[in-house]
Amino acid sequence: MYDKKIYIKRREQLKKKVKSGILLFMGNVDSPMNYTDNIFPFRQDSTFLYYFGLEHPGFTAIIDIDENKEMIFGEDFSVDDIVWTGPQKTTSQLAKSIGVNNTAPTSKLDEIIKSVISSGRKVHFLPQYRAENKIKFSELLGINPSVINNYSSKELISVVISQRSIKSREEIEDIEKAVNVSYDMYTLAMRSAKPGMYEREIAGLVEGIVLSAGGRLSFPTILSVHGETLHNHYHKNKMKSGDIFVMDSGAEVSNYYASDITRTIPVNGKFSSMQKDIYQIVLKAQVSSIKAIKPGVSYKKIHLKAAKIITQGLKDVGLMKGNVNDAVANGAHAMFFPHGLGHMMGLDVHDMENLGENLVGYGNNAERSNQFGLAYLRLARKLKPGFVITVEPGIYFIPELIDKWQNEKINSRFINFNKVNKYKKFGGIRIEDDILVTKNSHKILGRPIPKTIKEVEEHCNV
Ligand code: GLY
Ligand code: MN
Repeated sequence: MYDKKIYIKRREQLKKKVKSGILLFMGNVDSPMNYTDNIFPFRQDSTFLYYFGLEHPGFTAIIDIDENKEMIFGEDFSVDDIVWTGPQKTTSQLAKSIGVNNTAPTSKLDEIIKSVISSGRKVHFLPQYRAENKIKFSELLGINPSVINNYSSKELISVVISQRSIKSREEIEDIEKAVNVSYDMYTLAMRSAKPGMYEREIAGLVEGIVLSAGGRLSFPTILSVHGETLHNHYHKNKMKSGDIFVMDSGAEVSNYYASDITRTIPVNGKFSSMQKDIYQIVLKAQVSSIKAIKPGVSYKKIHLKAAKIITQGLKDVGLMKGNVNDAVANGAHAMFFPHGLGHMMGLDVHDMENLGENLVGYGNNAERSNQFGLAYLRLARKLKPGFVITVEPGIYFIPELIDKWQNEKINSRFINFNKVNKYKKFGGIRIEDDILVTKNSHKILGRPIPKTIKEVEEHCNV
């Protein structure tokens, strides 16, 4: 947790931006995994963490804009509870630690919300993603849980997005701490992977690094020799000499700020010449995209530039043909690079995605494309100092997609299917770093993680 001054300041900024009404922030509760007492590891809601910092389940907070009053609702532990949980701070002690002076038992919340509603004042709340909280909102507001998000506050969403999008010094330090743990994860993966091992052995080793650093994964690790499956959480393949594996993983070790890094690693410690050719294209797209990052540049423009570098590279190795600009305009590159170049990150690895991916990544006015590939671009808006974003181009050979495009002659004037068919067992390559947009330029966050072919091979062979 940060010093309470930070939470007070964040709430002051928030209060200045929302005109009237009350703001209702529901923290997360413990969620049962397979029976009531056997719960999923607790993760607090990120916006609740941002304004209130409390890492405990079961709290709700309100900010009354009209009366300039803040209140935390929660239940104090009884001695019977403490027998099982050990000593616990009271709601009041916890609230004071983040600068909130008023507390009440959760049972009072209903009364207060009903009186706000009956006096005609607005209750602002954010879109909910957990069933438990949708039900609680439904009970408080008398709205069916399935449509509760239709009543979330556009005004509050927009203020929270603009505030959380700009990372402060301490947030950037926390993201760098997470990336530094990623450094340990990746270098361990590089030196540990050997032919004959199972993917799960590496996944277990890297998760162990995060746990022993006192944190948790920021999302379930993607680690597979089938890197062509973009979000591959299956870890049961045996890794063979000649395979490469994509590892896309992250840590949250300090105040819940995430890292999100990807490297592609040769199982036997050496890339083949075919793998090197494709790796170099992805690396060039990644490094050039990072270089282009500065305030005022739209991320869509950088994405499209990366798509052109990938198209030119694939043309050079004979997999694509024709005019590069036309190929990208027609989305031909997306058979190989079907996802977006990156996304915002912070307390959520896809930061604030639940508040509305388009609002976060496109702003209020920008249109999102529906072209295959470009449609998956999560971040398109003009960059601002303080944004933390990922840069993660990739090239993949997805047999089902190749077959479909070939059979349906999709973009056949830009793709040499005869040659592409020889790559159907290639897998995929993705390279990802976390970047801060600075006042005039950008900074790659954290300790540099081996990335060039030479660096990766060296770390595989220490
Ligand atoms: N790290 C997974 C993703 O960005 O989707
Ligand atoms: Mn990512």
